[in-house]
Amino acid sequence: MNIGPGTRALVTGASRGIGRALAERLAARGAVVGLAARTTREVEALADALPGEHVVLGDTDVSDRASVEAAVERFGRIDLVVANAGIAHYEPFAEQPPERFEAITNVNWLGTLYTVSSALPGLLRQGSGHIVVVSSGAGLRAFPQAAVYGATKAAQRAFADALRHELTGTGVSVTTVHPGEVATSLHDHERDRMPAWSRAATRAVPAHRMADRILRAVEADERQVFHPPVVRVLGALHGISPAAADAVLRRLRGASAAPRRG
Ligand SMILES: NC(=O)c1ccc[n+]([C@@H]2O[C@H](COP(=O)([O-])OP(=O)(O)OC[C@H]3O[C@@H](n4cnc5c(N)ncnc54)[C@H](OP(=O)(O)O)[C@@H]3O)[C@@H](O)[C@H]2O)c1
Repeated sequence: MNIGPGTRALVTGASRGIGRALAERLAARGAVVGLAARTTREVEALADALPGEHVVLGDTDVSDRASVEAAVERFGRIDLVVANAGIAHYEPFAEQPPERFEAITNVNWLGTLYTVSSALPGLLRQGSGHIVVVSSGAGLRAFPQAAVYGATKAAQRAFADALRHELTGTGVSVTTVHPGEVATSLHDHERDRMPAWSRAATRAVPAHRMADRILRAVEADERQVFHPPVVRVLGALHGISPAAADAVLRRLRGASAAPRRG
C-alpha cells in the first residue's frame, strides 16, 4: 500500500518510543493517525504537536479487549493498523511475580490479538489494508532474564506468519517487525537492574530510523523486517545451531547472554 495524504493509520503505543516515531512519520506524510495509548495526556499533547488532524484514542488499554474494540470503533476506517504497544520486565523467571508475567502476556500477546481481531473485520470488508505486528529480535532468540518477554514476542511472530498466509487474496497483508535495540523508554523503569548482556549492547537504533524502516516495509509489502540487519543473522544462526548463536552472543554481549554451554 502507499502511505500518503488520507491514509488512516491506527497505532497502539503511540505515546512514546517506536509508536510515537511512527505517528510522527505518518503525520508528516499526511496520514490521519489514531493515537492509542493508556496515557491520554501524552497522546493529546502529541496530537497537538503533529501536523494535520488526528484522533486521540487515550485511555486505550490493549490488554482489555473492550477498550481496544472501542478505540477501533471510535477511529472508523483503517488502512494501516500497527500492533506496537508493549512492555518489558527483565528478571529471572524464578523471581518473577505472576502479576508481572501476566501483565507482559496480556499487553504484548493478548494485546496484539485484540488489536488485530478488532481491526480485521473492517479491513476484510473493504478488501484492503495492512497490519503491522511489532515483535522483536527476542522473538527469534530469547535472552535469559527475558524469558516471558521473549515468549510473547515469539508468539507474535508465529501468529503474524500464519495470518499473512491466511489473508492471501483478501487484499489485506501483514508485516512482522523484529527490532534489535531501539532507543526508547521501554526499560526506563528497570534501568538500574538490567542484565549484564543488555548493558553490553552497542548503540541503540534511533526510534525514527526504526519507524522509517517499518513504513518502507509496509509500502513494499515485506513479510518481515529485521533492523538492524544483525538481528536477521543471529535469528537465522539460532535456527540452524543454537550453540553457534550462543557463541556469537557471548562474544558480542558477554557470558550472561548464554551462560549454559550445551
Ligand atoms: N525498544 C526496544 O529496544 C525494542 C526492541 C524490540 C522490540 N520492541 C517492541 O517495540 C514495541 C514498542 O516499544 P518501545 O520500545 O517503543 O517502548 P516504549 O517507549 O516504552 O513505548 C511503549 C508504548 O506502549 C504503550 N503501552 C504500554 N502498555 C500499554 C497498554 N496496556 N495499552 C496500551 N498501550 C500501552 C505505552 O503507552 P502508555 O504507557 O501511555 O499506555 C507506550 O506508548 C514493543 O512491542 C516492544 O516490545 C522494542
